[in-house]
Amino acid sequence: MDWGMQNRLASIINPKTNRCVMLAVDHGYFQGPTTGLERPGETVAPLLEYADALMLTRGVLRNTIDTGTRAPIILRVSGGTSVLKEDLSDEELSVSMEDAIRLNVSAVAISVFVGSEHEKQTLTNLSRLCDEGQKYGIPVLAVTAVGKAMARDARYLGLACRIAAELGAHIVKTYYCEGFEKVVNGCPAPVVIAGGKKIEERDALTLAHNALSDGAIGVDMGRNIFQSQWPVAMIRSVRAIVQDGRTDAEAWDLAQSLMG
Ligand code: R5P
Repeated sequence: MDWGMQNRLASIINPKTNRCVMLAVDHGYFQGPTTGLERPGETVAPLLEYADALMLTRGVLRNTIDTGTRAPIILRVSGGTSVLKEDLSDEELSVSMEDAIRLNVSAVAISVFVGSEHEKQTLTNLSRLCDEGQKYGIPVLAVTAVGKAMARDARYLGLACRIAAELGAHIVKTYYCEGFEKVVNGCPAPVVIAGGKKIEERDALTLAHNALSDGAIGVDMGRNIFQSQWPVAMIRSVRAIVQDGRTDAEAWDLAQSLMG
């Protein structure tokens, strides 16, 4: 791997801990004005100092994020569907590598829909993006998107993660599930988890802790941080688990003290 690629990865994944806390606020690319992200710049401003990277789209980046930000950017570069469609898998690449570089991103992110109607299209999108990333030293984060009809079990997620890594993804993002260690063990690329739908704060911390215990290198968490009544307390507590090796019980104590 070349120096630029390594350096960008090291800006996202702390080389001392080999772990990372990504803050995901890209939901609007198919969901529109998601609860908590109506004004994304205001939502992320108090959270950025606790995030190792910020995942978002170029429109939100350009329009709402201060150019002086120190947070490495993971730019979502797939899209083309909306929640109004039954099938969300019909995605294409939505940003050129040139524009991603112009935006000084540290990585690009793309969804793959294994087992969907557009499986081949989304997987070849990933392959093409990895080729482009290789040219310029830009790492690729592959997101294993889950259709409504698909089971979020270790067999399916393990398959999707392995395929994403085989095609060249540098980091794979997926969902936590029963038997998650099998998903991680079968994936040659580092794995991070999405938080999924908003759940109780205490449960979100347990989810993060379990994922780390099972081998994930971190989280790429959105709604369980920015839809919480206490977003700063949540990201700090998740960070305590990921970067400081705290248990979920210790992180919950921290969260409660920060919630006041
Ligand atoms: C989904 O396609 C997006 O990449 C989200 O950013 C991702 O699911 C993470 O957000 P959350 O923790 O809210 O699930």
